[in-house]
Amino acid sequence: MKAAVVRAHGGPEQLVYETGFPDPTPGVGDVIVAVRAASLNYHDVFTRRGMPGIKVPMPAIMGLDVAGEIAEVGPGVEGWRRGDRVLVDPINRVEGGLMGETVHGGLAELCRARAHQLIRIPDGVSFADAAALPVAYGTALRMMRTNGHVAAGERVLILGASGGVGVCCVQLAKIAGAEVVACGGTDEKCARLAELGADRTINYVREDFVAATQALYGKPGRRGAGSGNGVDVVVNYTGGDTWTRSLRVLKVGGRMLTCGATAGFDPKEDIRFIWTFELKIQGSNGWAREDIHALLEMVRDGKLRVMIDGTYPLAEAREALRRLEDREVFGKIVVTP
Ligand SMILES: NC(=O)c1ccc[n+]([C@@H]2O[C@H](COP(=O)([O-])OP(=O)(O)OC[C@H]3O[C@@H](n4cnc5c(N)ncnc54)[C@H](OP(=O)(O)O)[C@@H]3O)[C@@H](O)[C@H]2O)c1
Repeated sequence: MKAAVVRAHGGPEQLVYETGFPDPTPGVGDVIVAVRAASLNYHDVFTRRGMPGIKVPMPAIMGLDVAGEIAEVGPGVEGWRRGDRVLVDPINRVEGGLMGETVHGGLAELCRARAHQLIRIPDGVSFADAAALPVAYGTALRMMRTNGHVAAGERVLILGASGGVGVCCVQLAKIAGAEVVACGGTDEKCARLAELGADRTINYVREDFVAATQALYGKPGRRGAGSGNGVDVVVNYTGGDTWTRSLRVLKVGGRMLTCGATAGFDPKEDIRFIWTFELKIQGSNGWAREDIHALLEMVRDGKLRVMIDGTYPLAEAREALRRLEDREVFGKIVVTP
């Protein structure tokens, strides 16, 4: 089959389009999915580069989010038929493992999945929209709702708001009734974030986001006039040098929500802000199966927009991932094998 394959960790050149990769065969409890759409995530950049502490079996086929039609049903599988439209939950919750990392993912014509990971795609939801959901929108849902409890009337600052996770965070915060300040790296991204529903935007490449946020909501203070200043929530999965600076815009009792660290996972911390302002740091990792069902229904019902910046054929998967790595994407990128 045709596949975009990583045979060694490294730069963009390590993602290679191949035409003779062996087809997968179904074992007991497996199905083979003819992949119609796979979305890219920043996670794929980390997988290609190699992450300390994570062993990726080589050769690897990346692509965590897989949507397609069942091409073959393995022995012992009940309730699924050839031709069914399915989305694969990237997490194997029974035997362990992650699609596109420890087992082959969606950057190929065919993909083997465990039947217990399958989710039926509702009528009216396209393969591309379904494939955009699990990792990015699923984690956003867990971060903003399940763990973050973002609520009506809260002020929410979102860094990296133009990315796959970010465009969902913006929408979920608005659905909750929060006031959203979205940070994007270009004026064009900021304009699109405003169009998506952000109340205010900050081009944080051109402008210092701490100063800009304090100009909007005041400098947080412990007592007196300053105690109402600042934002209730910062959403920060960027890390790096944005981490400690984000502590400076949170009001007393504010929450920092995180699910990752695109720009670096071991920034210098400043614990003084955490105790002085009684801040809460809340992590989120992945999604629950019911989150994916909920997202598919929201998309089908027109309550959530899937922002797809572009779709690429499999032969151009390297270029698609380059755009994501180089911050050229608004929302999601989809590959259609
Ligand atoms: N724990 C989990 O389960 C989980 C799940 C999903 C994602 N994540 C993590 O969440 C983060 C975002 O994922 P994603 O797929 O949404 O990524 P993405 O689509 O690439 O979006 C990330 C955004 O962050 C901004 N950014 C700021 N500094 C950056 C830098 N140094 N390098 C690259 N981008 C930078 C970019 O927007 P601007 O150019 O506008 O600044 C970019 O659009 C990643 O760290 C990812 O690993 C974790």
